[in-house]
Amino acid sequence: MSKNLVVGLTGASGSIYAQTLINVLAGMDWQVELVMSPTGEQILTYETGITRTSFPENVHIHENTNLFSALASGSYRTQGMVVIPCSMNTLGLMATGTGEHLLARAAQVTLKERRPLVVVPREMPYNIIHLENMLRLARAGATIMPASPGFYHHPKGIQDLVNHVVGRVLDQFGIEHTLFERWSGQ
Ligand SMILES: Cc1cc2nc3c(=O)[nH]c(=O)nc-3n(C[C@H](O)[C@H](O)[C@H](O)COP(=O)(O)O)c2cc1C
Repeated sequence: MSKNLVVGLTGASGSIYAQTLINVLAGMDWQVELVMSPTGEQILTYETGITRTSFPENVHIHENTNLFSALASGSYRTQGMVVIPCSMNTLGLMATGTGEHLLARAAQVTLKERRPLVVVPREMPYNIIHLENMLRLARAGATIMPASPGFYHHPKGIQDLVNHVVGRVLDQFGIEHTLFERWSGQ
């Protein structure tokens, strides 16, 4: 089985979620097939200081403009895709099934191949169009996991909160991790 996951990084606030997910996957020897929207890449650098040259070795960057990328075809095998953080713009693109750029096309492919598509939207408040787009995507098979961490693991700081969201995302793919202490009843 290939151990590769597509990560779509878009222009919503919260690129630390993507940064953490990428580092955790890379540390577990997963290949990360990364697609960044132009604004996603700008916000990544603005919020975290990271540039495309600072990713670990097993991160393969696919250009968003390159529809000749392997990710544009369902015949290329992946374990699924996470869009994190997901902007309302990309949410709308995915909900309407457009594939003009690689990130949205890869999401379209993931859904048509019935592979897991996890979407981590970041916006507040949501308008009705945002909510309808989430519903549409959920009906098409995506899992909507808003960037809203729990507090029951007694977070000590921002990274603990981020780890909770990223850990729950990994759970969707059955990937073992110790990013937070699980609730096991009182
Ligand atoms: C600093 C910054 C933060 C932003 N945060 C969000 C956000 O949290 N959620 C969102 O939907 N859009 C946010 N936006 C707006 C999106 O970046 C914008 O709609 C853009 O078109 C998204 O493009 P993309 O989907 O191709 O990444 C933000 C923009 C900037 C510059």
